Amino acid sequence: MSIPIYTFSGALAGNWRVAQMDSILGPALEPVPFLNVTSGTLTSESKTVWSLRGVVSHERYVNRTEKNLLAASSPVLGRSQDVCAALIPIKKSEAWWSLPQDERRAILEEQSQHISVGLKYVPAIARRLHHSRDLGEPFDFLTWFEFAPEHIKAFEELVTYLRTTAEWKYVVREVDLRLRRV
Ligand code: HEM
Repeated sequence: MSIPIYTFSGALAGNWRVAQMDSILGPALEPVPFLNVTSGTLTSESKTVWSLRGVVSHERYVNRTEKNLLAASSPVLGRSQDVCAALIPIKKSEAWWSLPQDERRAILEEQSQHISVGLKYVPAIARRLHHSRDLGEPFDFLTWFEFAPEHIKAFEELVTYLRTTAEWKYVVREVDLRLRRV
């Protein structure tokens, strides 16, 4: 079985234009004018400034009800109206990773309502979660979202909410890139 690996490259040319890039917590990434999203193992091009890699892995925390709700309402990526995107690379602390699975789930959902609140934003927001920690990458997750311009405000509201939660107390590095399809 081959697991698709996605590479997000900050570059001097590419298929997404960087509209805004903020370092929320921890070291920033070098500013770039474009982002390229590719899948498969590609050799980096000379125009690449930085590259972040992640794989789509199995779900860790969703229960059956949540899994079914997500499956029923999650849109595909690449919808023609979704000209806006966000790449939010996130690293969590050693304290987070040292917790057992059930305690991480309790913080993510029972305390922070990440999944139940997030579900209110689909199908407006399309998403794909990439895991990077086991690849030895600088971030643990590369979170990717696509949406239409009329949902920019809703997306902002969701991100602002998540940053106030108990789960986010374990976030030690976060960069927020907002993109426009070229
Ligand atoms: C658009 C609505 C959203 C929905 C429906 C959603 C749903 C989910 C679900 C179900 C998981 C758990 C997957 C599993 O079982 O392993 C998850 C994980 C995650 N989400 Fe979201 N999410 C949303 C938005 C966001 C946003 C805006 C961010 C970033 C600002 C984010 C960051 C993450 C991260 C970092 C994880 C991994 C957590 C971990 O494994 O420790 N999510 N999300």
